[in-house]
Amino acid sequence: MAGDRQAVAVAITGASGAVYATRTLAALLERGLHVELIVSDYGRRLLRDELGEAASVERLVPFLSGRYGTAVSAGSLTLHSNRDLGATIASGSHGCSGMAIVPCSMKTLAAVAHGLSRNLVERAADVMLKEKRRLVIVPRETPMSLPQLRNMVLCAEAGAMILPAMPAFYQQPRTLDDLADFMAGKILSALGFEHTLYPEWTGQVGGR
Ligand SMILES: Cc1cc2nc3c(=O)[nH]c(=O)nc-3n(C[C@H](O)[C@H](O)[C@H](O)COP(=O)(O)O)c2cc1C
Repeated sequence: MAGDRQAVAVAITGASGAVYATRTLAALLERGLHVELIVSDYGRRLLRDELGEAASVERLVPFLSGRYGTAVSAGSLTLHSNRDLGATIASGSHGCSGMAIVPCSMKTLAAVAHGLSRNLVERAADVMLKEKRRLVIVPRETPMSLPQLRNMVLCAEAGAMILPAMPAFYQQPRTLDDLADFMAGKILSALGFEHTLYPEWTGQVGGR
């Protein structure tokens, strides 16, 4: 908990799909949650490369409210250095209820699979696994090598949810934001939060 707020960790690493991360962050903040954010060096580059300078880490909160609306101010956010292994979320004693790594690079996936804990993303993920809390890993790569597939199995066996960046098309998305909404909704569900980011399946395509 951060004050009265429930805390959730989000890590952004250097796999394609920055918009999945920003939509997830906005949705968590809109719920009034406290977000413990870690961005790897390549995650920082990803934000700028895919969403522009306005989405650089230092400007992320204004970027989120500009793109997704001022409701994001219901929540709060702490940005941690990925080099700070003394951060609160590096310890199981910190009451962070879950963590999403979105998007998750194959490098970070490998590190989580093997419990390396070399930086804060890897350590916070390791804490989630050892404390049996929710860890949602959103990998993005195609095609995948056998080591990458095996690393996903290792993470799943350790208790993580593997939630690939694979938006569906049966909701008839019209924009990139529709695709991002779908992925963010899946991530929120996996973290145990209700949402209305995509319409419930009604049994037929387009049946809204
Ligand atoms: C433009 C660009 C796109 C990339 N896309 C991916 C990707 O989709 N998936 C992936 O696993 N790695 C991707 N990479 C490689 C990772 O960023 C790289 O392995 C990096 O070391 C990951 O480090 P991190 O996990 O600490 O962020 C990409 C790199 C660049 C520069």
